[in-house]
Amino acid sequence: MANVTIIGAQWGDEGKGKVVDWLASRADIVVRFQGGHNAGHTLVVGNQTYKLSLLPSGLVRGKLGIIGNGVVIDPIALLAEIDRVAAQGLAVTPETLRIADNAPLILPVHAAIDSARENARGDRRIGTTGRGIGPAYEDKVARRAIRVCDLAEPQTLDWRLDEFLLHHNTLLRGLGAPTFDKTALRMLLLDLAPKLLPFAEPVWERLANARRAGARILFEGAQAVMLDVDHGTYPYVTSSNTVAGQVAAGAGIGPNAVGRVLGIAKAYCTRVGAGPFPTELHDETGRTLGERGREFGTVTGRPRRCGWFDAALVRQAVKVGGIEGLALTKLDVLDGVANLKIGVGYDIDGSTYRHLPPGTEMQANARPIYETIEGWAGSTRGARSYAELPAQAIKYIRRIEELVECPVTLLSTSPERDDTILMQDPFAD
Ligand code: IMP
Repeated sequence: MANVTIIGAQWGDEGKGKVVDWLASRADIVVRFQGGHNAGHTLVVGNQTYKLSLLPSGLVRGKLGIIGNGVVIDPIALLAEIDRVAAQGLAVTPETLRIADNAPLILPVHAAIDSARENARGDRRIGTTGRGIGPAYEDKVARRAIRVCDLAEPQTLDWRLDEFLLHHNTLLRGLGAPTFDKTALRMLLLDLAPKLLPFAEPVWERLANARRAGARILFEGAQAVMLDVDHGTYPYVTSSNTVAGQVAAGAGIGPNAVGRVLGIAKAYCTRVGAGPFPTELHDETGRTLGERGREFGTVTGRPRRCGWFDAALVRQAVKVGGIEGLALTKLDVLDGVANLKIGVGYDIDGSTYRHLPPGTEMQANARPIYETIEGWAGSTRGARSYAELPAQAIKYIRRIEELVECPVTLLSTSPERDDTILMQDPFAD
């Protein structure tokens, strides 16, 4: 049975929520494998709008949700999210949600460090979500993280908190920020333990059994390839690997379980936070895209920067992300724009590049090389077949396929779930 992995192919916010929701309804299990509550997926189901950050999207479709060990879990944010959706009538219980017992926790210290460091960066700030994601991943690789399983061992917590606070309080003092008290933190963790532990288990084992039983598993990526800590526009990235290769390590499952990899890309491009964005538009067209596309961050509420579709960037994401099919979203936002541009490469200090080189200075100096395509007068909104699309819109899609060297296998033509054109079923064997 085929599994499916969904990842973002630009800088996040590509409209993964709708596609994930649509595929979740056809999966048995939905698994988060990286990121944390920096992600934001908006799901519209009937007359309810769910805004999820940490919970796997499949939960709203009654599917088992799993948070893998590759995720950094803020227990306070998780429990608040569970309460929030409960108030909307969706009960999340240990029967419907399982959490990797070896996943690292995000504690209030991490958000404090995140903000203090961003402030210290001044003009060079990354524009993080301020949720402590980076510091929590740092702790994981530095081997001082407090993990879900540690909540069951008060003695372990005791000495691990000593090491944890020695590091963080030293740093906070240096940054001129308030420090944290061990007793209070210990009490907080012991209070959280009985609330969180019923959800915890070795999820790798459940996933192995589910695979053997032929279950369909959907791996739900957060952020996107250009925010990947290795392959993105470093240092303006998040702190996890967002590529499909991360599924295996972040869920505790072999690489052959990743299944079909579907990349999500907007028909134009947006970014929140700081960092290079070669095809960014600072003019009226950029503002029009932002207004029409309602480009405001789900988590931060910040307006998103908008620009033309960057095919060179997406081609790179296709290659490093392992993307086999592209879901193109928000095509309708381009309706009526007379001339469309597509970035096909970069001019950097007089030299031509087919991809964005990794150097920070080079990325900042990258000027897009454009190809212009005539737009379309008609509407693509709500189209459910290619026959309903204006000829020029089809031409635009075909050109994108050629340039990114990947087929567009799904087209989303409005926020409505059924306004989707499917060319290839990713779950099909
Ligand atoms: P962090 O993940 O909070 O450390 O933020 C690092 C960068 O990733 C910032 O530019 C954020 O705006 C961006 N980022 C993190 N999560 C998302 C997301 O879900 N969508 C879009 N951008 C994100």
